[in-house]
Parts: sequence; structure tokens; C-alpha cells
Amino acid sequence: MKQLWVEQYRPSTIDGYVFVDDAQREQVETWIREGSIPHLLLSGSAGTGKTTLAKLLINELGIDEYDVLYANGSKEARKVEWVDKLISFCQTMPFGKFKIVLIDEADYMNPNSVQPALRNLMEDYSGSVRFILTCNFPNKIIAPLHSRCQGFHIVKTDHTEFTARAATVLVTEGVTFDLDVLDSYVKATYPDLRKCLNLVQLNSQSGALAPPGASDRSARDWKLDCVDMFKRGKIREARTLLCQSSGPEEAEEIFRWMYDNLDLWGSTPERQDQAIVIIRNGLVSHNAVADVEINLSATLIELAGIQ
Ligand SMILES: Nc1ncnc2c1ncn2[C@@H]1O[C@H](COP(=O)(O)OP(=O)(O)O)[C@@H](O)[C@H]1O
Ligand SMILES: [Mg+2]
Repeated sequence: MKQLWVEQYRPSTIDGYVFVDDAQREQVETWIREGSIPHLLLSGSAGTGKTTLAKLLINELGIDEYDVLYANGSKEARKVEWVDKLISFCQTMPFGKFKIVLIDEADYMNPNSVQPALRNLMEDYSGSVRFILTCNFPNKIIAPLHSRCQGFHIVKTDHTEFTARAATVLVTEGVTFDLDVLDSYVKATYPDLRKCLNLVQLNSQSGALAPPGASDRSARDWKLDCVDMFKRGKIREARTLLCQSSGPEEAEEIFRWMYDNLDLWGSTPERQDQAIVIIRNGLVSHNAVADVEINLSATLIELAGIQ
């Protein structure tokens, strides 16, 4: 069976990892050089590389596989019974320098039972155990855990590096592609690299990256089609498609997407500034208007009118 690119190309060393900026790259390099990390809280939106960074650190720090306890906050680590397992893991001596407890999706851990239980463990075993927590919503993590962990917030990965990473995967797979087509995939999915790689894999079965609209329905993604229409100046069609395809509950996500892709609305910094104000106004009225679709349409009309 063909492997998923997202797994196959999950970088296990710092080389293939897309950093937000140089400061974050240097921070990670320092940890690796020193051979040690503090307790970490990695936060950021989906598909930006939190789990990848956690696993990469475990690998680069040379942690013995028996010294790693992996758990998911939305599954086993949601229940307080899991804490007993965690305690026995912490109590035994590490094989190597220290142990790591990696809790993915830690924001789903119960804030009244599991999260408080971690507090003492982080202190009592700080000599031999390091915790790495990953989450989408840091505000769901209780304050005592914030204060015990160094926060590492992945805001938005670098746009150019994001594109380069997708391009590298395509080249390695021997898939031919047009840069402008790839750019549409990037714009439709940024900053979610997982989504980008999945969508690109789905659309390169023939050995070439299919332009938006060319693939069969199952591999279609309306954001991708929209980006393509916007780029080709078919503003009205794009607007209709966007309003039709997105549910009212997705509206806030769409405003975010508009903001993440400012170069769709203008090529100069001045035009992009105008776009930000328009998007902000749209978002403000979004909470006040009765018809979300009309508001979204109006915002798009304003964006298309930027000169
Ligand atoms: N910053 C990144 N650098 C390199 N690859 C990444 C990055 N972010 C995501 N990916 C790719 O997307 C996939 C999913 O990333 P993951 O780390 O699981 O995201 P999440 O932030 O949701 O935990 C990875 O397997 C990898 O292929
Ligand atoms: Mg993850």
C-alpha cells in the first residue's frame, strides 16, 4: 500500500523542518547542542508541526525509545486513571540521560483532574523526566502548567519555506508540477502543511500535479478552486463558490484564511494594509449581522475592489 506523504516525509531531523523564523530555529538548535530541554508547551494551529517538532527533539536528543512515554490528551490521557501509569513511568530510572513524556493534544486533558496532577509530577521528577505538551488552544491549559513549561508558539510557518517543503516532496516523488499551480495549493491550505501534503498527494496520482479543477470530484477542494478563480480574476465566480461551499460555522475560519493569504488581495504592502482593514471590518460585523453569507460576500466585494 502507498504510504501517506505526511508520514513518509515527517522530518526526523532539523534539516527538513519548516521553522516559523530564525529565532525559533536557533532556540531548537541550542536545545539540541546542549542536549537538554525544559518542560515544553508547543502550541499552534493544526498541521503546523507541533507533533513533528516533539518527535524530532526526542530523536535529535538521542532519547532511548524505552525512555519515552507517548500519550494523547484526547484519548487515554483524558482520564485520571492514566495518571497511575504516568507515575510508575516517572518512578523508574531512565536508561539514558532522562525520560520524556510526550502528551499530544494536551488541551483535551481534564483541567480539573489530569492537568492538576501533572503539576507535582513536573516538579518531583524534574531531574529525570521532561514533559512535552502539544496543543491547539493554549488557553485550555491551566495556569500552573503554563508556569512550569517554556511556551513555544508556532504562529505561522514561513510562507516561502512552506512552499519549498511541498516542492521538495514533489521533486523527491518525481512528480512534475507548475509553480503557479503549486502556489494555488499553498494558498488554499496555508499554514496547515499536513493538509497541503495530503491534497497535493491526492492530486498527483498521474505523475503530474493536477491544476485546480482538473481532478475528479473526490480530490477537489473548494478553497483550492476559489484560489484559482481569484488568481485568474474571476472574482464573481470565486465569491459565489466560496459562499456556497462554506457553512456559516466556517466563516471565522475563512476570515482567517483571507488574512493568511494577503497577497491574493494586493501585490503591494499598501494594498495588503487595506485588505487587513477590510477583513477586520468583515470580522467585526460577522458577529453582529444576521446573515453571515451577505456579510462574507460584501467583504469579498470590498477586497476585490482594492486599488
Ligand atoms: N513545520 C513543519 N516542517 C516540516 N513538515 C511539517 C511541518 N508541519 C507539518 N509538517 C508535515 O505535516 C505533517 C503533520 O504535522 P504535525 O506535526 O503532525 O502537525 P500538528 O501541528 O498538527 O501536530 C507532518 O507529518 C509533516 O509531514
Ligand atoms: Mg499533532
